[in-house]
Amino acid sequence: MHRSCLCEKAGGDLVLRPAVLEDASLLLAWRNDPETRAASRNTAPVEAGEHAAWLAGLLEDPARRLYIVVAHGQPCGQVRLDPTGDGLQLSWTIAPQRRKKGYARRAVSLVARAFSERTLTAWIRPENHASIRVAEAAGFRLAGTRDGLLKFVALGVADVQGR
Ligand SMILES: CC(C)(COP(=O)(O)OP(=O)(O)OC[C@H]1O[C@@H](n2cnc3c(N)ncnc32)[C@H](O)[C@@H]1OP(=O)(O)O)[C@@H](O)C(=O)NCCC(=O)NCCS
Repeated sequence: MHRSCLCEKAGGDLVLRPAVLEDASLLLAWRNDPETRAASRNTAPVEAGEHAAWLAGLLEDPARRLYIVVAHGQPCGQVRLDPTGDGLQLSWTIAPQRRKKGYARRAVSLVARAFSERTLTAWIRPENHASIRVAEAAGFRLAGTRDGLLKFVALGVADVQGR
């Protein structure tokens, strides 16, 4: 799996770089933003110590990826990939003050292209219209519902060819 930065085509101003431990406070602020909490499975605020341990564990795990979305040189969000039985589960957040500029659509589409050999999944609350648009723009399609969440799937190249 990719360990390096993901970049848009030449001239693009958006880069996804692998997260590092020093991103902990930025990531915690985004995680505890009320809109992010409302969109998450676990809506409770996360405490700093617990968050630092979670981030350290994630960064040590070769099967997981966490990217910081950098636009015009400024960190403006994150995209995470976690292994599932049959592929990778994506989740994403854009910093509150940087929303509605197209960053989520561009960042998630970039990740979906970079990992197009794998089957990608995203779980989205039905009222999260922005994320539904982001997922659809990145090639995900609605594949079902569970526990009140919509399951979006982008089939991996191998799955599509094997049909
Ligand atoms: C959802 C979120 C990631 C969207 O990020 P963003 O960078 O503002 O999204 P974009 O600017 O790329 O917009 C994507 C689409 O959603 C639309 N959109 C953006 N904000 C919206 C809103 N509040 N309500 C409805 N539509 C919205 C945009 O118009 C755009 O539509 P288009 O593709 O038809 O032009 C961001 O609001 C966020 O981080 N929310 C909290 C965390 C979260 O919901 N994470 C996802 C969990 S599944």
